[in-house]
Amino acid sequence: MNKIKNICCIGAGYVGGPTMAVMAKNCKDIVFNVVDANKERIDSWNHKNLSKLPIFEPGLEEIIRNTRNINLFFSTNINECISKADMIFISVNTPTKKTGLGAGKASDLKWVEACARQVASHSKNHTIVVEKSTLPVRTAEVIKKILNAANIKNENNLSFDVLSNPEFLAEGTAINDLENPDRVLIGGENEKAINSLIEIYKNWVPEKKIICTNIWSSELAKLTSNAFLAQRISSINSIGALCEATGADVREVARAIGTDSRIGSKFLDAGPGFGGSCFKKDILNLVYLAEYYGLNEVANFWEGVVKLNNWHQHRISQLVSRKLFGTVSGKKICILGFSFKANTNDTRESAAISICKDLIEEGSHLQIHDPKVKESQIEKDLGVKSLKNLTKTKNNSIYDTKGNWLKADNVYQACQGVDAIVVLTEWIEYSKINWKSIAKEVRFPTWVFDARSILNSNEVLGAGLNLWKIGYGFNNDNS
Ligand code: NAD
Ligand code: UGA
Repeated sequence: MNKIKNICCIGAGYVGGPTMAVMAKNCKDIVFNVVDANKERIDSWNHKNLSKLPIFEPGLEEIIRNTRNINLFFSTNINECISKADMIFISVNTPTKKTGLGAGKASDLKWVEACARQVASHSKNHTIVVEKSTLPVRTAEVIKKILNAANIKNENNLSFDVLSNPEFLAEGTAINDLENPDRVLIGGENEKAINSLIEIYKNWVPEKKIICTNIWSSELAKLTSNAFLAQRISSINSIGALCEATGADVREVARAIGTDSRIGSKFLDAGPGFGGSCFKKDILNLVYLAEYYGLNEVANFWEGVVKLNNWHQHRISQLVSRKLFGTVSGKKICILGFSFKANTNDTRESAAISICKDLIEEGSHLQIHDPKVKESQIEKDLGVKSLKNLTKTKNNSIYDTKGNWLKADNVYQACQGVDAIVVLTEWIEYSKINWKSIAKEVRFPTWVFDARSILNSNEVLGAGLNLWKIGYGFNNDNS
């Protein structure tokens, strides 16, 4: 086993950045180069002001402060960093394919393939290539084929090993997840290569938490892990809808079933539906794989998890409309929270996107607040310009006849003149709102929809507002 001295990670995103930062913190004798084709992203990682890092993640700034330009470097100089590395992590995006074979379900592996080609062209000597991205089963075979094709030329004494080492971090808790993982999974064939990676993790992860499998099991375990987690959320949200109809309380049901040690208490919070860049994409990938192997019942079973999630998000916008006397057209609605969960600025697949789109489509005017998401990001996600940026007609009315939106600077501004307030992200500051003050801003009768069960019912109701908790339902109706 050769000791690894230089690591290159291709992809400086939500996984590559934090993962390498934690590795650099714990492996001071290894140099880490995190490279990306996106110059703007690399510039942000190198920004003097740490609040300008491209990713908001609690604890990340501190680690970057102590490692950046010591043994952790961010660069766009991909080829040079590849050529210096003994080990290369591929941590690029693997979104769902939009067109062509498998469109809408299969993962688009063009970025992974591009990385493999680049590694093949610029590596020197022996290099261990580690799949960090979430990949369909048997992707390692594709990577190996590309690398071995380069090997045939054998210009630089090339030889490669490919390992699978999927990442299980969750955004918002990434640093803690990386520092104290439940497990580290390594799939591979070559014992020497596996041991090289184990040696790195052993710097901070207890050895008993490192699980080794064959490469295909490792790839499939990552997809399965996300599918099982997402399945729990669709399961509890489906029961939440039934609770609202019957008068049961989903939190009580979750507590009652979660105490069964076979079920467990985690991941049973009803909410606005799961978001994030991975759950939907990874389940659809699993569905595609099952269909590919002719296992249609398996495919249908998992596709149901995504369908329920889509249905649930539309159900929430319909609920808002129903409570506002059947129409939201021309009404102002406050949206609290746009990121897909608290403690991240990531909005990918956030439930807020589909819920806001539905409400805008129905003609409402949204006043959106989020402590970390930028206005430009919301504009991109909704595909509708912010009210501030809309073209005005000669008589100064807004050109667009549909609803529209603007970003509010604070919660009070977001609540001005609204008929409804919808809490979609569990940002801690929303649980501390002074509802008596908010009541002065709104238009009565006002509904508050709490999709995250974070509000104090007595305070909301005490301020004279109506409250609907998703998965619980009717609290009071002053209207
Ligand atoms: P991301 O989009 O935030 O980052 C990927 C980066 O790769 C981008 O900055 C992009 O510019 C760069 N890139 C793509 N192709 C490149 C190339 N050929 N050369 C150089 N740079 C290139 O994605 P992410 O959220 O970090 O996810 C990466 C992978 O990790 C995905 O497969 C995802 O499923 C998986 N994953 C993500 C999470 C998460 O919480 N986001 C957790 C576990 C696993
Ligand atoms: C998820 C997994 O938890 C990670 O293990 C995995 O590495 C990652 O996907 C990935 O592969 O990308 P992440 O999407 O960052 O992590 O965040 P989660 O905490 O899993 O939340 C996902 C969504 O489910 C969020 O919208 C969240 O609000 C929602 N959720 C979560 C609920 O509605 N209820 C819950 O009880 C838990």
